[in-house]
Amino acid sequence: MIFQAKYMVVFTGAGISAESGIPTYRGAEDGVWHKYDPAKYANIRYFLKDPKYYWGFFREVRYPLLKQAEPNKAHIALAKLEAKGVLRAIITQNIDGLHQLAGSRRVLELHGNTRRILCMECNKGYTIDTVYRQLETQFPPTCSGCSGRLRPEVVFFGESLPTAVLEEATQETRRCDLFMVIGSSLVVQPAASLPVMAKQQGARLVIINKEPTPLDSIADVVFHSAASEMLGDI
Ligand code: APR
Ligand code: ZN
Repeated sequence: MIFQAKYMVVFTGAGISAESGIPTYRGAEDGVWHKYDPAKYANIRYFLKDPKYYWGFFREVRYPLLKQAEPNKAHIALAKLEAKGVLRAIITQNIDGLHQLAGSRRVLELHGNTRRILCMECNKGYTIDTVYRQLETQFPPTCSGCSGRLRPEVVFFGESLPTAVLEEATQETRRCDLFMVIGSSLVVQPAASLPVMAKQQGARLVIINKEPTPLDSIADVVFHSAASEMLGDI
């Protein structure tokens, strides 16, 4: 299917980064770390009410995980398929930036990227290392330019997806002839509607996910296996 494809698009979720040591949100074994409550650290209303909760999570969990995470064989295989001109775009729900670290260039980040921190007042950008260091003396962190509050450039629950990125992802989904899902439970909308849209416009749909997904029944091929094994073989 890959070699017959004229326009292959891949859609990834947390499962592709599990083998890089980043816990998934809903996977059977790990499910996200339980010390911090995603209903708090991943929710915009809670973040605005009590930013210290998020920054505590960032300092203790998010930052250390990002620093140890390396792209795995699955990320690297996708970068190679793009370099060969086979894979045209990756649409990802992940915020870990591992596709770019693996060398992928066209990556549409539906939920943003947690390696980018910005000031809510003046939009000044910061790296996670700069912010991590500032936390030792300034908690929660503030902007060195205007003392505004900082936030990760991610889509919190309660916020809408970046329209331009969603529009681009929809266009890619509409024009592909092969849509491959890797490591997503396909339960969060509107992302999970993209595979359906691809199938409806006539693309072949392949799902690689450790556990069954609600869209298995409409896929042309389903592999319930680990992403790095499958992509390594491919
Ligand atoms: N290889 C393949 N699949 C895997 C692997 C692996 N090594 N490890 C886990 N999985 C599968 C799990 O079985 C699970 O079905 O990956 C899927 C991950 O699903 P989720 O944890 O729900 O992640 P995702 O689908 O990306 O969640 C979507 O929900 O919480 C929000 O914004 C967050 O982007 C996230 C969105
Ligand atoms: Zn500022």
